[in-house]
Parts: sequence; structure tokens; C-alpha cells
Amino acid sequence: MNKKANQYDIILTDDGSETLFSHLYNESCHSASGAKAETKLHYIEGCRIEQAVKNKSELAILEVGFGTGIGFDETCIALGGFDIPITFVSFEIDRQLIDRYQNKNQETFIFYENKATLLKGNIELIIYIGDARLNIKSVMHKFDAIYQDAFSPKKNADLWTTEWFRDLKQLANEECIMSTYSASSSIRKSMVAAGWKLSMGDQFGNKKSSTRAKITGTTESGITQQLERSPAPEITDKNYKDYQEGKLS
Ligand SMILES: C[S@@+](CC[C@H](N)C(=O)[O-])C[C@H]1O[C@@H](n2cnc3c(N)ncnc32)[C@H](O)[C@@H]1O
Repeated sequence: MNKKANQYDIILTDDGSETLFSHLYNESCHSASGAKAETKLHYIEGCRIEQAVKNKSELAILEVGFGTGIGFDETCIALGGFDIPITFVSFEIDRQLIDRYQNKNQETFIFYENKATLLKGNIELIIYIGDARLNIKSVMHKFDAIYQDAFSPKKNADLWTTEWFRDLKQLANEECIMSTYSASSSIRKSMVAAGWKLSMGDQFGNKKSSTRAKITGTTESGITQQLERSPAPEITDKNYKDYQEGKLS
């Protein structure tokens, strides 16, 4: 990772909230149409967090990619009135984003082994620092919600493979909803191959649709038909580098 590649630019999005543009991935952490609005739509509402918390004595949420911390902040706001124990686990490969969050919010993380933790009232944040593909093996929780919020499949294909979605499925509670902003046929094929059942998610910004997934039920027939027609490849651990380099489609 060179110096330039390791840097971020701050971008103001259309709802007035800020996101980061990563020079390493050549992509922003959020849609230019609104970082907070996108987070609320795809994750807080997409995973039905406020409904889930009402029926539970404890709640666990998994986020793929801590980034700016907006996913965590918006979750804290949404769950502010509930006093059950809540665990929010996140993965982040870039330690400087955790330091940035700490400085910006004047919070003090406890760092131990490969984790950064923070207690905010009844909400415990645990960030696994390093490659999520490795760190997922040491996560012991079962989750009620999964925010699949890696960079886009073309830039961050290692976090959109069938094998990755299999690992996530192992951590899902029966009622777990996994939600993502992506509606790509390739990632949908990978999710289906891993055993997830898909439904259409909301439209946001310049994207026409998004994806929600559960481990029970059936995939919506419209999605099944679309995937049958689509020539897009399933992304796997074997082909993800070729996929990223545009050699497959
Ligand atoms: C789209 S951003 C996440 C945005 C975030 N949810 C937020 O609220 O700001 C994707 C994040 O995934 C992280 N990431 C990419 N590859 C990773 C990997 N293999 N393991 C862990 N984190 C990774 C990036 O560093 C980046 O911060």
C-alpha cells in the first residue's frame, strides 16, 4: 500500500453528511446521494433493526466494513431508546479508520489482540482489525442482522464470493436479515449458491435496486428468473481476482 493509496478524501454528500473517498479502492464509502440516508435505508430499515429489537432480550449486528463509522452511529441512534444488551461487531482492514473515528468522536477504544472495543451505554462495539476473510473464523456470535457493506464487487470482490457468503451464513440466526446496497447479478448468484434466499431491496440514489437475504424461505421468483437469464458469473474464491480485473464479464 503506497502513501497515496492509503489516503482518503472527505466528500460531502447530498444529505449534508460526509463520507470518505478511498484512493486505494478508488471508491467512496457511500453513495454521493447521501451517506446517512443510504445507511438508514439499506441497513437500519433494510435489516428491520427497530422491529428486531422489540422482540429480543439481546441483539447482535454484524457489519462488513467499519469505514467512517456511520453504520455504527446510525445504529446507536436507532436503538437509543432500547436498553437490552446490544453487540455490534464490525470488520475493518485499515487501522487508520479506527483511529480517525476515535479522534473525531473523542472516544477511547480499548485495543487488545486484533480487536478495538468500545462501550456506549448498552451497546458494545467490537471491531476486528485486519482481513475479514481471516477474522470471521474467530467470531463466535450469531447475528440478527448483517450489514454487507464492503466496497463494490468490482473493487472489493474478495468480500462478495460464495465462500464469504457461506461463512456469513454460518453466523446468521434463523431470522437474520442480511442487507446490501448492491443488486449485481454476480453477487446475487454468489449469495444463492451459498444458500441465502433473496428478495428485492429498495432503490437509492442512482441504483435501481438493492438486495436483502435470509437463510429461510425462498428467493423471489423475479430474482430467480433474472439470474437464470443473466450471463454474469458467480464470484468465487477461485475467480474473484479475474472478476476484479474485468476478465470475466
Ligand atoms: C464501503 S466501506 C464501509 C462503510 C462503512 N460501513 C461506514 O459506515 O462508513 C468498506 C470498508 O471495508 C473495508 N474493507 C475492505 N476490504 C476489507 C477486508 N478484506 N477486511 C476488512 N475490511 C475491509 C474498507 O477498508 C472500508 O472501510
